[in-house]
Amino acid sequence: MQAVLPDADVSSVLVRPCPDPKFGDYQTNALMALAKGRKLNPRQLAADVVAKLDVGEACAPVEVAGAGFLNFRLKPAALARSLEAAARGEHLFFAPSPQPRTVVVDFSSPNVAKSMHVGHIRSTILGDCLARTLHLLGHQVITDNHLGDWGTQFGMLLVAWKRSLDAAALKADPIAEMERLYKMISAECKANPATLEAARQELVKLQSGDEQNLRIWREMIALSQVQFDAIYQRLGVRFDHTLGESFYHPRLHPLVQELRDKGIARESEGAVAVFFDDLPPLKEHPALVQKSDGAFNYTTTDLATLAHRLTTWQPDEIVYVTDARQQLHFQQLFAIFRRWQPAARTRLAHVWFGSILGEDGKPFKTRSGETIKLADLLDEAEERAFKVVSEKSPEMPESQRRDIARLVGIGAVKYADLLPNRQSDYVFSWDKLLALNGNTAPYLQYAYARIRSIFRKGNVGSSVSPDPAASSTTTLLLDAPEELALARHLLNFGLVLEAVADDYRPNFLCNYLYELAGHFTAFYENCPVLKSEAAQRASRLALCDLTARVLKQGLAVLGIETLEQM
Ligand code: ARG
Repeated sequence: MQAVLPDADVSSVLVRPCPDPKFGDYQTNALMALAKGRKLNPRQLAADVVAKLDVGEACAPVEVAGAGFLNFRLKPAALARSLEAAARGEHLFFAPSPQPRTVVVDFSSPNVAKSMHVGHIRSTILGDCLARTLHLLGHQVITDNHLGDWGTQFGMLLVAWKRSLDAAALKADPIAEMERLYKMISAECKANPATLEAARQELVKLQSGDEQNLRIWREMIALSQVQFDAIYQRLGVRFDHTLGESFYHPRLHPLVQELRDKGIARESEGAVAVFFDDLPPLKEHPALVQKSDGAFNYTTTDLATLAHRLTTWQPDEIVYVTDARQQLHFQQLFAIFRRWQPAARTRLAHVWFGSILGEDGKPFKTRSGETIKLADLLDEAEERAFKVVSEKSPEMPESQRRDIARLVGIGAVKYADLLPNRQSDYVFSWDKLLALNGNTAPYLQYAYARIRSIFRKGNVGSSVSPDPAASSTTTLLLDAPEELALARHLLNFGLVLEAVADDYRPNFLCNYLYELAGHFTAFYENCPVLKSEAAQRASRLALCDLTARVLKQGLAVLGIETLEQM
């Protein structure tokens, strides 16, 4: 391209896997756009590029197709060379990014004194998966749990705690007791202005450093943190930092002052607000940074959080994972930020997601209409998985069935959450997500275990469970169409990981792994492995091993563990 049009922006010329294998393995449509911009004939431009293109031994002669597509077909020998390098452990079809970025991922962020509900599950699972993907691709990832540990609810909670705390209940189930207090007091605040005023006063006392209130507030955080940690441990999720909203409280006053001094915020009806007259979609939605009673809010805290992250970590990118209802908040936040720090190059992304629905298509609730708690959901997942495992393998010792059920149950819930396009709502269905046939975690975990059993049956080692030598010097013989299709699919693993990181969409990886399992099944049904003669057997075992490794790595990036046996 550069040889034909030296001044063209070649970074726009992307070569992507071909959507239809009929046309080739890879394809670019970028020349058509370039030709259009220059009023050239696109087919002629494509032909000129092909004339200068040296694909070496990698591809069959490149074809110009349609209105100016270039289609590339890998030579089987080139494909085999790449797989051989992977079999030697040189790569697993992806490479660390040549331009590593520092990325802050803000996710999960539940609220103190409340239990984590299914709404937090998507943020936790999605955020964790994005952090894992970015990390695998060589980026520096900083995870931060922006706990809701500050705000007006604590004034109310303090009143209730002092008046009606049931110490025994708190000991038995702290979250349930705090939720009871909260429910009771918020009803009372609605009915009785005096209670509301009492809550306001407790809040003021807390914010001005009252010893007793601080002590109670800290206890509420500590008790909640125990519950959050238990869930994170079950999910295998960890954070580098847990800097809750309260951490930023001392910075809010000077921040609002700065916004006023710079003319970004101004007084309006007793409050302080930022107006977006120059931004049509936000024109009708000014953002409050200080309420008329002097209190700061969610936006103020998020601005202080941004400033802190910028000075502490100098990130290239900050990713916020929350539900769709917070879109306006983040649009406002990002717009204020651009005005406030016009020179900052940090990319800000709001990765939002839809809700989880019950099978009746309404918000996912318990039978009695209450919100479902995440811990209960995970318990049920493990229990149901235990039934499935016990039906399939009644002879297994119970402890082993429990271990399997734990990985399968949690894996199934995570996968159900990652598989749909994150911006659409999805229907939560136990039968669907635990099905052993279908696009589910158990199906992929089972596919992995099945490949591992080939190695056990054939009494051969592989690099998954390290027994060196096995596949390291293998020559790949790719003849059968199923072998070629599987090999081509393996090669695209890295492209899919990059797409997940670029668009913040783990569903690309779910679908890739599901297709991989499909290609493997077709291969395994048509190409005998253990019964083949020496060279072919070794080659096919290497294909099995590479498939298992990609499945394992792919599931690991989704936060899902694999088992050697199921
Ligand atoms: N605690 C908030 C909630 O439960 C989510 C916080 C998201 N992160 C942020 N920086 N605003 O809705």
